[in-house]
Amino acid sequence: MTTANNVYALASAALAGNRERVVSMCRIIAANEKITSALKHDIEKLLSRLPNQSSELVPADLRGLVMHVTPSLSLENVVLPAGVRSELDAFLEERTHADLIRSAGLNAPSRLLLSGPPGNGKTTLAGAIAGHLGIPFLVVDFSAVLSSYMGETGSKLAKLFRGVSTQPCVLFVDEMDTVLSERSNPRGTDVGEISRVVSTLLLEIDRLPDNVVLIGATNHAEMLDRAVVRRFEHHWQLPALDRDGLRNWLHAFARRVPSVPVIGQADMLLQEADGVSVSELERRAEAWCRRWIVRNGVEVTTSP
Ligand SMILES: Nc1ncnc2c1ncn2[C@@H]1O[C@H](COP(=O)(O)OP(=O)(O)OP(=O)(O)O)[C@@H](O)[C@H]1O
Ligand SMILES: [Mg+2]
Repeated sequence: MTTANNVYALASAALAGNRERVVSMCRIIAANEKITSALKHDIEKLLSRLPNQSSELVPADLRGLVMHVTPSLSLENVVLPAGVRSELDAFLEERTHADLIRSAGLNAPSRLLLSGPPGNGKTTLAGAIAGHLGIPFLVVDFSAVLSSYMGETGSKLAKLFRGVSTQPCVLFVDEMDTVLSERSNPRGTDVGEISRVVSTLLLEIDRLPDNVVLIGATNHAEMLDRAVVRRFEHHWQLPALDRDGLRNWLHAFARRVPSVPVIGQADMLLQEADGVSVSELERRAEAWCRRWIVRNGVEVTTSP
């Protein structure tokens, strides 16, 4: 819910002619409203008319290290293990009541760690959460942070975290294990540099306001520095889906391409699919759809 403080901050920014702050207050107000709120809807409509909206979300000196990405799928189309789905529902419900939780002196839950083998939905889920919450999806390129600024990685990380935290957003840090492994030493980086990066990251995670939803992802949770893992309130594993999960995914996929009869090919596509990733099944399903479209000369409609 919009608080008196937010209205006051918006009015002060507008009267001072601080356009950037006005835009950022509008985003904060919209993000704090319920999903069903007419005010949220109207403000988001105003924001969507802004020119160059995506580049404004990332401060100029951080571009290249963090990107504003449009989520590829809506939450209904992400297939999740039952346990993760129910924890996700509880998480989203708490985010929707963030103000209520804060008014009781607690923080809204804001840190998720996703782990699992490649191609099973970590990035997709993070984006869908941002889309569902109606806040920007900002993706950190961790390897760029590390490789471009050898020796000053810590200060770049601090700048990055502080730069993005002026607005509600999902901050997605992928491939956390490349830098935060307890054992690895990426790209010949010296041990001192790694431990500086880890300490800076811990400090910055602790400092992040809870309007930023931090989502970390890794293929190897067991390799992560344990102090980093502890910072996350939830740790959800997204393993390769079983046969039923893959079939559910195929149904969700078929809804996205309603004019192609892909569901009739479910058995064929699921043959020898045990243990394959969703992205591999997606590749097979898309290949079949492409061939069908070309053969039948059909104009296809899709939905996200
Ligand atoms: N659980 C899922 N539900 C719906 N679509 C999925 C799921 N998992 C994967 N996909 C599809 O597969 C593609 C790859 O998934 P995604 O990039 O999210 O995997 P990832 O776990 O982040 O992989 P990586 O570890 O390589 O980064 C996406 O484009 C998405 O369409
Ligand atoms: Mg990914």
